[in-house]
Amino acid sequence: MSSILDACCGSRMFWFNKKDSRAVFMDIRRWIGKACDGRNINVDPDVIGDFRNIPFADESFRMVVFDPPHLLRAGESSWLAQKYGKLNKETWRDDLKQGFNECFRVLEPGGFLIFKWNEDQVKVTEVARLFPVQPLFGQRGGKTHWLVFMKEGAGE
Ligand SMILES: C[S@@+](CC[C@H](N)C(=O)[O-])C[C@H]1O[C@@H](n2cnc3c(N)ncnc32)[C@H](O)[C@@H]1O
Repeated sequence: MSSILDACCGSRMFWFNKKDSRAVFMDIRRWIGKACDGRNINVDPDVIGDFRNIPFADESFRMVVFDPPHLLRAGESSWLAQKYGKLNKETWRDDLKQGFNECFRVLEPGGFLIFKWNEDQVKVTEVARLFPVQPLFGQRGGKTHWLVFMKEGAGE
């Protein structure tokens, strides 16, 4: 069994080893395209799945990585929307809430959820308010935020 779930892996850009065998790479789509600089973008998940209804049993992973789309406004055919996906203007809050809850469900007690957000269009504080658990700590680099959450329950 793999120990890490990347719940919306896109083209695995932030992975040093994009074929790390300890991880299951999931995304809602398979897609090959080109970035604005001409580089190939290859979205080729191990599992096609929806983070709002993750196709794994409870407590399956020691770590879950959650880097959902962060754009509300981007042309459907723009390379940004194609590369990162887009939030649904009507449902994005519920989608992210459900995604977070699903990521927590498949985490084992004591496991960690790593959440990434780019606040180009939506502030990270607005998103963090949707989640039922406070992060342990986080890191901010310009507009990009990393937050670390822990699922309670392993012996405390
Ligand atoms: C910000 S990108 C992820 C980038 C990725 N972390 C990387 O390093 O390349 C967000 C991804 O979420 C995927 N996505 C959007 N809605 C989804 C859903 N409901 N379930 C799973 N993946 C979804 C998009 O297809 C897109 O590839």
